[in-house]
Amino acid sequence: MDKKITLSVIKADVGGFVGHSGVHPELLEKARGIISGSPLVIDYYITHVGDDLNLILTHELGRNNGEIHQLAWDTFVACTEVAKKLKLYGAGQDLLGDAFSGNIKGLGPGVAEIEVVERKSEPVIVLMADKTEPGAWNYPLYKIFADPFNTVGLVIDPSMHGGFNFEVRDLIENKKIIFSAPEDIYDMLVFIGAPGRFAIKRVFHKATGQIAAASSTQRLNLMAGRYVGKDDPICIIRCQSGFPAVGEVLEPFAHPHLVSGWMRGSHHGPLMPVPASRSCPTRFDGPPRVVALGFQLADGKLVGPQDMFDDPAFDRARDLCNQIADYLRTLGPFEPHRLPLDEMEYTTMPLVMEKLKDRFIDLRTAKKKKE
Ligand code: F6R
Ligand code: MG
Ligand code: MG
Repeated sequence: MDKKITLSVIKADVGGFVGHSGVHPELLEKARGIISGSPLVIDYYITHVGDDLNLILTHELGRNNGEIHQLAWDTFVACTEVAKKLKLYGAGQDLLGDAFSGNIKGLGPGVAEIEVVERKSEPVIVLMADKTEPGAWNYPLYKIFADPFNTVGLVIDPSMHGGFNFEVRDLIENKKIIFSAPEDIYDMLVFIGAPGRFAIKRVFHKATGQIAAASSTQRLNLMAGRYVGKDDPICIIRCQSGFPAVGEVLEPFAHPHLVSGWMRGSHHGPLMPVPASRSCPTRFDGPPRVVALGFQLADGKLVGPQDMFDDPAFDRARDLCNQIADYLRTLGPFEPHRLPLDEMEYTTMPLVMEKLKDRFIDLRTAKKKKE
């Protein structure tokens, strides 16, 4: 049987440097030290995007493997110790569970994994975002795998012409549904156009059933039941030879879309495509960032990365993001820059309501509430 390789990308914010903007080099060193000493992984690449530490790992143990998740958890715990020593900001903020119990999902860190039999050549792109939520991938994934104006391969490559299946998760009710593109796209858009609730979890090549993309869909704020930071999602996409070309995967980011997140996880802002070296969001804690690292898998080795947004062809997208940011910032605390009340991560509303409750007059009865 052909050997299967799993690519696991696992991320967490275990302490910011400075504030919520970046990751201290000592944390990256610590993570590299632990992962490089593990016999479980074939190869690894450790990086950060904004204040999130990203572990990109290859192995032969499959998805949801307890040993790999334990390794990631232990790495984050060890990095948290370093963060505490340096008094970095929010040390351990994404480690919600007290102890690891077999699977890292639900404990705070974000996870995206694909298991593949490597093709003759296996190009993959790992997308990593900061200051936004899992549904931020809906718009680009739709364009990449369902929009012929973005992906001409859907029209002119016979191996893509049959389309793709989308697994969409309802993050509030914890349900999933499979949509088939292109037949179901109008139905699907009803849901994925609401990215705060519905997120594309996986995409499959319809004709072969092969995995094409996988994202992280954890919603930290729902898991914790209180504010602990936006989820800062990741996504893995396979490219070429029946999957979208590298350029088709990157093209949606040339037309920046608005996402939820940014300052205090409570604002709309443009998702800015940047090279890894420019991923620290500092203007009003943003605007939200996305980094795309490309790798060729070779017997599980991560050949790369190639930093895909380190290209002047994305300069205008960045300029547009800055223009959009300038405009949105003029709105200050007003919607639609600020998120609607039920989507903000900071909910002062109940406190203010409580404070003012006696000053509200019920107009239905036209009687002032009792003192
Ligand atoms: C957003 C984010 C930051 C913080 C902000 C306030 O996802 O991480 O914008 O929300 O810096 O942080 P605290 O409340 O920790 O002072
Ligand atoms: Mg943070
Ligand atoms: Mg972050």
